[in-house]
Amino acid sequence: MQADLTIDSAAAAERKAKETTLLSPRFYTTDFRAMDRLDMTPVRAEWTAMMAEYEGDNNHDHFQRTPEFATEVAERFSKVSPEMRQEFLDFLITSVTSEFSGCILYNEIQKNVTNPDIKQLMRFMARDESRHAGFINQSLKDFGLGLDLGGLKRTKAYTYFKPKYIFYATYLSEKIGYARYITIFRQLERNPDKRFHPIFRWFERWCNDEFRHGESFALIMRANPHLLRGGNLLWIRFFLLAVYATMYVRDHTRPMLHQAMGLESTTYDYTVFRITNDISKQVFPITLDIDNPAFRAGMDRLFRIQTRINAAKARGGVLGLASRLLWSAAGLATFARLYLLPVQRHELPASARMAPAW
Ligand SMILES: [Fe+2]
Ligand SMILES: [Fe+2]
Repeated sequence: MQADLTIDSAAAAERKAKETTLLSPRFYTTDFRAMDRLDMTPVRAEWTAMMAEYEGDNNHDHFQRTPEFATEVAERFSKVSPEMRQEFLDFLITSVTSEFSGCILYNEIQKNVTNPDIKQLMRFMARDESRHAGFINQSLKDFGLGLDLGGLKRTKAYTYFKPKYIFYATYLSEKIGYARYITIFRQLERNPDKRFHPIFRWFERWCNDEFRHGESFALIMRANPHLLRGGNLLWIRFFLLAVYATMYVRDHTRPMLHQAMGLESTTYDYTVFRITNDISKQVFPITLDIDNPAFRAGMDRLFRIQTRINAAKARGGVLGLASRLLWSAAGLATFARLYLLPVQRHELPASARMAPAW
């Protein structure tokens, strides 16, 4: 748990959601005219099939709370320790912020493009993400910590990303989101006594939405293969590492959450990396070598550096600042070393589409 913030009021929850740090979820905007120029012709048959799936909307009735929901919160969640409660609230707030981040981005693109394929896709994905964000927010409201999503939309800082960076980053966050949710769901399916909050029962059908969102970005990139070769491979490598490292550090700062589910953060994270590596071969010709001992040591070092940065932040003053700068430089150097490790290369499959089989 980060030392500088206790989530004990709606205002604290809002501060947490608005945080703009390297690790916190961000809001994005992009170049809509460039999105207009995208051409889906090379993947038309797969695209049409995917649009039919969105149209079918098999999750339209999924995000409703059942009458037992409140009872389960009362019976199970009331038993967790105050520290664990903080970690879970932190998890809910980062999750709602990243769901809502997708909702805003897809909605903005939908409103600002004329390209009919992109417009239609973005409308479907914004629909899904708005349900996801709303559903998590209901659980925050149970604790009196509901976020004002409209206010967040107006006041949180936005980051501009070129379309190709949006594709790499969003593709990965959708797929890693799927891998995270399905790993938790399977674990709690095997160990129902460890399900300390009912929201996890929704994760299976939920993560199929995220899987499909990822499929959509995979098709966009496969239709524009220049995004997947040459100098762009350096960007793909960068985003793979940035997404994996962020998740690793963030998860390790809240270890109790996974322990309560009978998982251990490092094992959980490497399970998620493995699934994400397997899936991302549908579109990226390179994957990170997550079994390289230097990779594992580097990830660990990033986490240890982050705890030093948090401690320096909490200390404040000139010494705190100096120590923060030093540790930030060490973090950057570690990231650079990880970036330079050899990657694994492979051919792309003939068809990009995959099924959520985990
Ligand atoms: Fe989502
Ligand atoms: Fe999504």
